[in-house]
Amino acid sequence: MLSIILAFFSIVSSAVAHEHQGDPSVFLSAQGPHKQSFWYNSLPGDGGTQADSVFSGITTFGRLPYFPCLSSSAEAFDIAFLGAPFDTGTSYRPGARFGPSGIRQGSRRLNLYGGYNVPLDVNPFNSWARVLDCGDIPVTSYDNTYAIRQIEQGHQALLSRSPFTNSSVPGPSISGRTLPRIITLGGDHTIVLPILRSIHKSYGPITVIHFDSHLDTWKPQVFGGAPSKTAAINHGTYFYHAAQEGLLKNDSNIHAGIRTTLSGPSDYTNDRYCGFTLIEAREIDTIGVQGIIDKILSRVGFVNPVYLSIDIDTLDPAFAPGTGTPETGGWTTRELRAIIRGLEEVNFVGADVVEVSPAYDTNAELTTMAAADVLFEVMGVMVKKGSLSGMGDMRGKRVEEEL
Ligand SMILES: *[C@@H]1O[C@H](CO)[C@@H](O)[C@H](O)[C@H]1NC(C)=O
Ligand SMILES: *[C@@H]1O[C@H](CO)[C@@H](O)[C@H](O)[C@H]1NC(C)=O
Repeated sequence: MLSIILAFFSIVSSAVAHEHQGDPSVFLSAQGPHKQSFWYNSLPGDGGTQADSVFSGITTFGRLPYFPCLSSSAEAFDIAFLGAPFDTGTSYRPGARFGPSGIRQGSRRLNLYGGYNVPLDVNPFNSWARVLDCGDIPVTSYDNTYAIRQIEQGHQALLSRSPFTNSSVPGPSISGRTLPRIITLGGDHTIVLPILRSIHKSYGPITVIHFDSHLDTWKPQVFGGAPSKTAAINHGTYFYHAAQEGLLKNDSNIHAGIRTTLSGPSDYTNDRYCGFTLIEAREIDTIGVQGIIDKILSRVGFVNPVYLSIDIDTLDPAFAPGTGTPETGGWTTRELRAIIRGLEEVNFVGADVVEVSPAYDTNAELTTMAAADVLFEVMGVMVKKGSLSGMGDMRGKRVEEEL
């Protein structure tokens, strides 16, 4: 029965896609679950997307159309939201396996008023990009080694697809093709190791911007004690393994928001061996939001393809209590959102938000809302930058303007 429903859905949706090829706004507005006559509101807003209440219907990220991309390639996309419900690599509070569904619930009102992002001057929901919620990667909760392979394969299956837009224009991947972007909903931070393995297959060694209160480059002997090979890969060591495996560039990665205690100053030395520099959370008191943005930009540049990983514990627990390893003294949601908007010229090829653990959240959904809103800025920055086929163009223009 399920397969019949899915088959029917893919026939219907590919017909829709075919009819409206190249016009994502028509595609999106065709997604209401009801016939036109049932829509209580057809007022012409900027986006015209208020046909259905934001609190009703099945929950997808930002109420985007859902498509089971892992089982069918009938729908192409430029940006895919993809869940990785994995939390058996965590050292303190478990529960991030509920992160993907929590973030989706927290994202319900993202396009309540149409989704136009005022400071970025872009509407990521109805611009050139076709954005889909592709559901979750099936991840076993009984075997970390197997789960990590599932995450890599699921991510790579979508990353290696042709995008909806500019699929025949050359792009920055190793194969010279333009690829879509994937935004992963975590999951504990361990999921970034298999994601970086997938990214490496498509882009080679990658530059990483990592927002977190923790370094996550710890050697397994230092973090967790590494009683076994499986235990050595966890949410405090995945960047160490990524560096060892050559998945990262060694001269352009940066952490931002760091404020954890250390085993000792040698943790910072080890971190530099993994190719990172860092911005501590408290620096915001002296250099401000713009100072943080400038530091990140001068480290990663405008030419490299960049992967963005955001641990929700970058935020102070006042703003995001529902997380695996909270640390006080962090940034506000407003500050983090402003910092991400300040990175609009960076060539982001993919991103994630991790460590959202809804069981520790407030009834007011503070953490899941913060995660969703941070991803709204990430979407905005990606859409504003354009298809990855244009990567590098803006920097070219900037250099000319500056000269
Ligand atoms: C960094 O990587 C480059 C190759 O991409 C290599 O030539 C260089 O030796 C590496 N530097 C360090 C410190 O590992
Ligand atoms: C698609 O490619 C064309 C040609 O390179 C470029 O002009 C256009 O901006 C690209 N579209 C997007 C959305 O980036």
